[in-house]
Amino acid sequence: MSCFGVLLYVVAVFISGAFEKALTAVIQTQQTVLAAVGEDAEFSCQLLETKDVLQVTWQKISHDVETNVATYSKYFGERVNDGFTNKVEFKHTGLQNCSIVIKNVTEQDEGCYRCLFNTYPEGSFIGTPCLQVYELHEPVVDVRESNSTEEWVVSCSATGRPAPTVTLSVSQQDLNFSQYNTVSVSNTNATFTVTTTAVLSGSCKHSTQVGCAARVLSAPHREVTVTTPDDDDDGLDEKSNHINFGSRTLVILSSAVLLFACVAALISVWLRKKSQSSQSHRPVEMNDMAT
Ligand SMILES: *[C@@H]1O[C@H](CO)[C@@H](O)[C@H](O)[C@H]1NC(C)=O
Ligand SMILES: *[C@@H]1O[C@H](CO)[C@@H](O)[C@H](O)[C@H]1NC(C)=O
Ligand SMILES: *[C@@H]1O[C@H](CO)[C@@H](O)[C@H](O)[C@H]1NC(C)=O
Ligand SMILES: *[C@@H]1O[C@H](CO)[C@@H](O)[C@H](O)[C@H]1NC(C)=O
Ligand SMILES: *[C@@H]1O[C@H](CO)[C@@H](O)[C@H](O)[C@H]1NC(C)=O
Repeated sequence: MSCFGVLLYVVAVFISGAFEKALTAVIQTQQTVLAAVGEDAEFSCQLLETKDVLQVTWQKISHDVETNVATYSKYFGERVNDGFTNKVEFKHTGLQNCSIVIKNVTEQDEGCYRCLFNTYPEGSFIGTPCLQVYELHEPVVDVRESNSTEEWVVSCSATGRPAPTVTLSVSQQDLNFSQYNTVSVSNTNATFTVTTTAVLSGSCKHSTQVGCAARVLSAPHREVTVTTPDDDDDGLDEKSNHINFGSRTLVILSSAVLLFACVAALISVWLRKKSQSSQSHRPVEMNDMAT
């Protein structure tokens, strides 16, 4: 009796599991599409098994309410519903494979969308890709000298939504960041401005490259690199070297120009003399050429 019950249960679990698997396997779509504010986002749904599809319907789900966005059917073709006409476009249309593009995404476009392949007689096969919208501005880096000559205070700010993570890096291995301090400020438009400040210490006499990377979600990060200014003593030496080198080049260059000018003047004088003398002999020369 109980054995039979267990058997029934196992069979039921097996069947429902298999059924769920089949349903989810039938439609292939993205789980989450990540798009930056202002970009276009594409969703595509593919019905992996050949079915008799009457229509493909795209819906938007917000607060558990489904709104029809667009439909595609053999008879009526592509239709984008009012309220989405400048927002949504079909990219590929087909009854087995259908994709739409949400243009110039904003925060309001965030949420899940559904593609329904309405078939006969089985009903609808449904895929539910979701759109996640992010915002990420280029970080701003500031490097300033601290009280101690061996240190720089580096701070980097990035604005984004959700709050970005800000990471500092330095190209030179003997330099280290310490005394990290991160502050996050929320802006009125739901973005956050995150500022990370740290002290760069080590032998800071030579200029070095400091990088700052800002990241949100799994979107491509944005990175900025700045070069710290040279420290005084070494910098002066290098600068004076530059000046020496520069003036030497200047002397050589101007000598060359002078020399060239002299030669040019000589040649022009010589040419003028020659042409004057050849003018007097012109008839002879022309005769020479004719023969
Ligand atoms: C369906 O669309 C996907 C992605 O857009 C594409 O790779 C695939 O080749 C398409 N399949 C058919 C049968 O059109
Ligand atoms: C994108 O949307 C924003 C805000 O709705 C609007 O100001 C901007 O003009 C749009 N850009 C394009 C290219 O449509
Ligand atoms: C710089 O010096 C002042 C006064 O000596 C001190 O209050 C301040 O904390 C120092 N700043 C740094 C970054 O060391
Ligand atoms: C949101 O606010 C931040 C800071 O005020 C600003 O930099 C950013 O451009 C704003 N984003 C949008 C989409 O308006
Ligand atoms: C920087 O860190 C490395 C590894 O942690 C350490 O070996 C080195 O001494 C540090 N340098 C300074 C200037 O603190």
